[in-house]
Amino acid sequence: MQDIDKLSEELAAAVAAAEDLEALEEVRIRALGRKGQVTSLMKGLGSMTADERKMAGPALNALKDRVGSAIEARREALKDLELEARLAGESLDLSLPVRPQNAGRIHPVSQVTDELTAIFADMGFTVAEGPDVETDFYNFTALNIPPEHPARQMHDTFYLESAPDAEAMCLRTHTSPVQIRHMQAEPPPHRIIVPGRTYRCDSDQTHTPMFHQVEGLVIDRDIHMGHLKGCLEGFARAFFEIDNLRMRFRPSHFPFTEPSAELDIGCSYEGGELRIGEGDDWLEILGCGMVHPHVLEYSGVDPAEWQGFAFGMGIDRIAMLKYGIPDLRAFFDCDLRWLEHYGFAPADQPSLAGGLAR
Ligand code: PHE
Repeated sequence: MQDIDKLSEELAAAVAAAEDLEALEEVRIRALGRKGQVTSLMKGLGSMTADERKMAGPALNALKDRVGSAIEARREALKDLELEARLAGESLDLSLPVRPQNAGRIHPVSQVTDELTAIFADMGFTVAEGPDVETDFYNFTALNIPPEHPARQMHDTFYLESAPDAEAMCLRTHTSPVQIRHMQAEPPPHRIIVPGRTYRCDSDQTHTPMFHQVEGLVIDRDIHMGHLKGCLEGFARAFFEIDNLRMRFRPSHFPFTEPSAELDIGCSYEGGELRIGEGDDWLEILGCGMVHPHVLEYSGVDPAEWQGFAFGMGIDRIAMLKYGIPDLRAFFDCDLRWLEHYGFAPADQPSLAGGLAR
């Protein structure tokens, strides 16, 4: 028994003294290996008398367990130490500037989407999304554009092939269908913007078959044109960063709003160069209006109780205007030199407090 106590002390000391996993493994082999000290003592049990074995057996088993768990505990501790040492050696300085040849740029469409999201978020809007592939119902019918309505031709829609008796599917021609989807999914009031891709069969210097829009929708009990005006004027001033930006709301027509308007901002074209906020010319930037009662009805919202406004704006278009980018098609050419010139630094998140773009 004395042997066992002594061995126990010795092994405990050896385990504690093992400085790395290799040394610990040596201790384990010396104690518990096939020819180890504990193993040899256990082998000796066979040649003992029954009484001796009754004493020594449990003591040896306890020793074996004790040594085994001491080794396990030490192994865990050594592993932690090893990891800590490795992490300390491998530290990365994330604040180091990126090597210029590896630096990416933020595309103007992403930049402007982030900018307008920051502005509308500050006014209490949240971001909603919807599918790019739409049904005829959501893209047109529910927006008060019945079949045979001339507005359907005006949209240059990409229709998808569908089974003869299935509902016609198309690539959404605007983000307005998300108005319906959102109102169907959640109860009023609503205050959302919907940035996303839209598609029309059209291509020239200012049109591409795929482009981006942002929809806005505000529904509550007593929303009126004054709210629409204040909201969009506030947006345009913040977005173009011109406090005394001239603006006018011009009467217009959309089937899904009544009354409808378009917002123009003041600009000059002097010397062939467009300057926003100067001169006495006008530039259209968005369509808007009070949501038509039919649209509310299609969305399951009671027009006797709820009303509001909606607007839709081309993201690519306002990006071109704000940053003086002449050709829309270049947005989607994936030309790195173009992106290096017109892109934005990735670490500069647009915010109202920190500035929209630097
Ligand atoms: N959906 C319209 C378009 O694509 C824009 C719009 C949206 C107009 C909401 C009024 C209200 O031209």
